[in-house]
Amino acid sequence: MYGLASGALPLGQFVARDGIIDLAWGHPDPALLPIGGLQRAANAVLARYGADALGYGYPTGPGPLIAWLCDHLGAIDGRKPDPEAVLATAGNSQALDQVATILTKPGDSVLVEAPTYHLAVRILRDHPLNLVPIPSDEDGMRVEALPGIMRALRRGGAGLQANGGRSGRPRLLYCVPTFNNPTGASLPPERRRQLVEFAAEAGIVIVEDDAYGELAYDAPRPPSLWSLAPPGVVVRLGSFSKSLAPGLRAGFLTADAAIVERFRESGQLDSGGGVSHFSSLVIAEFARSGDYSANVARLRAAYRERRDALLDALGESSRPALDWRRPGGGYFAWVALPAGTDARVLLRKAEAAGVGFMTGPSFYAGPIPSAATGRIRLAFTRYGPEALIEAGRRLLAVLDLAAG
Ligand SMILES: Cc1ncc(COP(=O)(O)O)c(C=O)c1O
Repeated sequence: MYGLASGALPLGQFVARDGIIDLAWGHPDPALLPIGGLQRAANAVLARYGADALGYGYPTGPGPLIAWLCDHLGAIDGRKPDPEAVLATAGNSQALDQVATILTKPGDSVLVEAPTYHLAVRILRDHPLNLVPIPSDEDGMRVEALPGIMRALRRGGAGLQANGGRSGRPRLLYCVPTFNNPTGASLPPERRRQLVEFAAEAGIVIVEDDAYGELAYDAPRPPSLWSLAPPGVVVRLGSFSKSLAPGLRAGFLTADAAIVERFRESGQLDSGGGVSHFSSLVIAEFARSGDYSANVARLRAAYRERRDALLDALGESSRPALDWRRPGGGYFAWVALPAGTDARVLLRKAEAAGVGFMTGPSFYAGPIPSAATGRIRLAFTRYGPEALIEAGRRLLAVLDLAAG
């Protein structure tokens, strides 16, 4: 149902490999996608708006989506946006690419967490931008390191121009502060406050990738950086890929109205109108009927159970040689292997034993710290609890840590 269409032409991104429970993919379980509800919403949209649903859309997004988003974010986040501070996007990948187009010039520096979402690195490098890593600890970005990094950049520190760009004041700081990819960590409140203060003072725009904010398992989500910051400091990217369905290619951003205006005036929106117009209307319909909130509640329950199934299975090891923090939300567990184990060597053996994962070094834009070679990222969303328990057993067996 997902993967190859009839004939040889692919339909989806996921590639199944026989016999492998592949925890490398940060994808939803196809069985959890709300097909019936979206079908009803699409029919209702076509009946209600007719040709207006299929024409070019308003550049910043259709009114019904923007109005619902303002109410929804007012209810779940620290601050309600004004409609002119919201822009419909085609998901966080497109939005990040467009942010880089509008707010940077080739060769500018961009601060990124280390580790960070590996495909954001690809998008930023496409522009091309000079990526400057900020170290992290188990709570996320080490915000106190930022002034030192800025000083080194001003001096043109050789290590900080590793990608060959021109240095100088960074334009952007890209981060995933809530249920991080790959670590699962969320930045504590004090660091959030310090981070927005630093950016406001330094004149750097924070790009807050909030792809996982809705998927909180143990407590309400922390307030976004956007909701804590003075106007103009944060562009928050929200996606419907994780809370609804990635194939809709839809998301939104919240930012200062003046920044949204710069997007509105861009050639892309002038030419094509609002991105993902039809999907945005379908999502607004789905949300107004109450289905969106119900869907998020269902995903939270399912993924909480899966997170626990996988980590409890890993906890069954013969000795406590693996280490992790149970993530409070999102898709991923970031697991430390027994001392001296190289994740890249382990991966070959693990795949032969029927389990896949992403290795720690994949998530660094700059130098790879030695501890990262002993880390793996496990996605617990695509498979049900039984498969995850089996994946955990296979991993322990390959590591020679199986109990009994
Ligand atoms: C941190 C982060 N940002 C962005 C994306 C991609 O988002 P979208 O599907 O909205 O383009 C992902 C997906 O894995 C992600 O983990």
